[in-house]
Amino acid sequence: MGDARRIDEGSALRRVPFPRVGAAAANRVKLELSRALGDSKVLVDDDALLQFAGDESEQEPVLPDVAVLATSAEDIAVTLRIATAHAVPVTPRAAGSGKSGGAVPVCGGIVLSVLGMTGLEEIDRNEQLAVVGPGTILADLHAAVELEGLFYPPDPNSLKICTIGGNIAENAGGPRAFKYGVTRDYVLGLEVVTADGTPMSVGRRTKKGVTGYDLTSLLVGSEGTLAVTTRATLRLIPKPIELVTLLGLFASVEDTMRAVEAIVRAGLVPRCLEVLDETCVIAIRAEGVPMDARAAALLIVEVDGDAVSVERQMEEVGQRAMDAGAVEVLVAQNSAQRERLWEARRQLSYVTKRMARWKISEDVVVPRMQLAALVREVGALSERTGVKTLSYGHAGDGNLHVNFLWDDPDDAPKVERALGELFRAVLAMRGTLTGEHGVGTSKAGYLHLEQSESVIALQERIKTAFDPKGILNPGKIFPRRGHGSC
Ligand code: LAC
Ligand code: ZN
Repeated sequence: MGDARRIDEGSALRRVPFPRVGAAAANRVKLELSRALGDSKVLVDDDALLQFAGDESEQEPVLPDVAVLATSAEDIAVTLRIATAHAVPVTPRAAGSGKSGGAVPVCGGIVLSVLGMTGLEEIDRNEQLAVVGPGTILADLHAAVELEGLFYPPDPNSLKICTIGGNIAENAGGPRAFKYGVTRDYVLGLEVVTADGTPMSVGRRTKKGVTGYDLTSLLVGSEGTLAVTTRATLRLIPKPIELVTLLGLFASVEDTMRAVEAIVRAGLVPRCLEVLDETCVIAIRAEGVPMDARAAALLIVEVDGDAVSVERQMEEVGQRAMDAGAVEVLVAQNSAQRERLWEARRQLSYVTKRMARWKISEDVVVPRMQLAALVREVGALSERTGVKTLSYGHAGDGNLHVNFLWDDPDDAPKVERALGELFRAVLAMRGTLTGEHGVGTSKAGYLHLEQSESVIALQERIKTAFDPKGILNPGKIFPRRGHGSC
């Protein structure tokens, strides 16, 4: 969230700071932005700018020189034209709930907030699509389409605060991705403004379409480095009729992973297949959620479909969980029970943050059959490095949030070592560094571990084609070269 994180409470991980925008250029853009957009949309006071300095990662917050509160595509175009004229960086931002530093203005310059662009402009029931502004809160979209009997599956677990613009920038996933896929699978078309202030429309409104390169897919997940979204056309699907939530109680996280493997191997596709380790269970108990004393790890499974298929899936999943050693499998009896369970899961990221002064949440992905090996590896590297960890996540996708927690700033080198060891282990298992939070600043230094020089160079050429002056969200995704990317 963008609120009230103080600058001096940033990460203990020491990073070389990016060079800041020069004062003269910053002053010129402040003046021109105020003249073009009016003072009410242009914030320049440090107190007001504080809320645009950080995100939900451990990337050190950085104060921008100016923030623009855009309420239209034209505001965005004007801002980008002025920024291009003075070669001043622009960090696009919505709710600031991202977890990889994507919304942190690492070089200062302009923060371009799209939070005011909340229009839920159209829901077409027959064509099963919605047209929305980038500042639309995800929960509002969910509620509106569900009233029409439709469904927009992505939810990165922060649905009450996160926005469509941020979800698109980071290609957000979440628990339902196992069955329904991620944000990219639901974006049909985008209206964007490129770095030089040119508005353009990419993609389509139709169900099918293969005209030209798939620029829509390229822009989704581009972390604000290629263009700024001003409107999105989203694919919807019919709302599933029945839904059942099961809670598997296990004595160890390895047992839950065995259950996940068995469920996946059997070809079952629940909508969610979430695992929580022992530290997470302790955190949830501490929040007052009653939990059987025998439970040291949890599996949350949700199945949907018609009544007959839900019944069958529920039985099969329950059986697989028991075979894998579940202590007990409970079925939520009503929507209140279900909601309580999910609320606890949604709060996990924030609740566990309170367990230490600093916490990094990684989002590595491994082939599902490697999950138990990954859990063992995390345990071993925690022992080796002395860094406390906890893990939870979207096990059905092989996507585990391995969290590192520490209180002493002197432990930062140990955390760096643990991070490197985690990433190397994941890649040795033929996994990937990030399944949903994005590279941002936090993993830019590790990109070369996964991708070859030539693949990184090709992406940098694409970046240059969209943004020749390199003003859009510098410092994100790509490793720093020479004096940095600002
Ligand atoms: C979650 C966020 C951290 O799954 O991705 O809770
Ligand atoms: Zn997640």
